Amino acid sequence: MIEVRNLYKSFGDKEILKGVNLHLREGENLGILGKSGVGKSVLAKCIVRLIEPDYGEIKVLGKDIIRMKESELNKIRRDIGYLFQGGALYDSMSVRENLEFPIRRTQIASQRSEVDERVEQSLRSVGLLDAIDKMPSELSGGMKKRVGLARALILKPKVILYDEPTTGLDSVTSGEISELILKVQEEYKASSIIITHDMKCAKIATNRIKIIMDGNFKAEGTYDELSRSTDKEISAFFI
Ligand SMILES: Nc1ncnc2c1ncn2[C@@H]1O[C@H](COP(=O)(O)OP(=O)(O)OP(=O)(O)O)[C@@H](O)[C@H]1O
Ligand SMILES: [Mg+2]
Repeated sequence: MIEVRNLYKSFGDKEILKGVNLHLREGENLGILGKSGVGKSVLAKCIVRLIEPDYGEIKVLGKDIIRMKESELNKIRRDIGYLFQGGALYDSMSVRENLEFPIRRTQIASQRSEVDERVEQSLRSVGLLDAIDKMPSELSGGMKKRVGLARALILKPKVILYDEPTTGLDSVTSGEISELILKVQEEYKASSIIITHDMKCAKIATNRIKIIMDGNFKAEGTYDELSRSTDKEISAFFI
C-alpha cells in the first residue's frame, strides 16, 4: 500500500530523515512511535507530498509519488485519508460543510442526495451524526478529532494516515478514538499508519509498530514484543 525507500529530508543543515524505509501492508494498522521533533509528521507529509523529500523513493498503491505530475497526484490523494495533527477543521464552516469540502474539491459526487448520504455515513461511523449542524467552536476536543476522522474517511480512502489522533484527549476518550480506528480498519478495509505518542492508542489500534530515533527506524514488532525489549531506549517508551 505504501513503500518508502531510503528517504532523506533536511531543513537547512538539520538532517531530519536519514534513509528511512517503510512498508505498509494491505489491511494493517502500522504504528509509528518516536519522540517529539524526530520527524514523524515530516515523514507523513512526504508520503502525500506536502513536503518534498531530498532523496529516496515513495510509492503509494504502487505509484511513484515523487515523480508524479500534479494532476495525477491529486487523483491519488483521493485514495489517502489524512487526519492532521491538531485536527485542522475550518472554524468558519459547520461540521457538514467541513465534510462536504473534500467532496466538492474532488467532484466525486455532485447530487445533493449523494453528498448528504456520504456526509451522514461518515459521521455515523464516528458516532457523531448529531453534530452535523454544529460549528467547530461548539465541539469538545474529542468531538473535533472524530469530525477530523469523519473528514478523512469521506472519500472512502484505501490508505489512512493518522497523525497523533489522540493527543490532548483524556485517557477514556483516547481509548474510544483508538477503538474507532480499529473499527475503521474493519469497516473500510483500509490500511493505516498511526503516528502516536500515546501508548494506549499504540496498544489498542496497531498490529505492528516501528520506532523512529535519530532519523531512522530502530526497532519493529508488535506492541507485546516491543514492550518486552531489554533495550533501554525502546523500553523507555513502555514505562
Ligand atoms: N516546514 C518545515 N520547515 C522547517 N523545519 C521543519 C518543517 N517541518 C518540520 N520541521 C522540523 O523538522 C523536525 C521534525 O518535525 P516533525 O513535525 O516531523 O516532528 P514530529 O516527530 O512530528 O514531532 P511531534 O511528536 O512533536 O509532532 C522539527 O525539528 C521541525 O522543527
Ligand atoms: Mg508531529
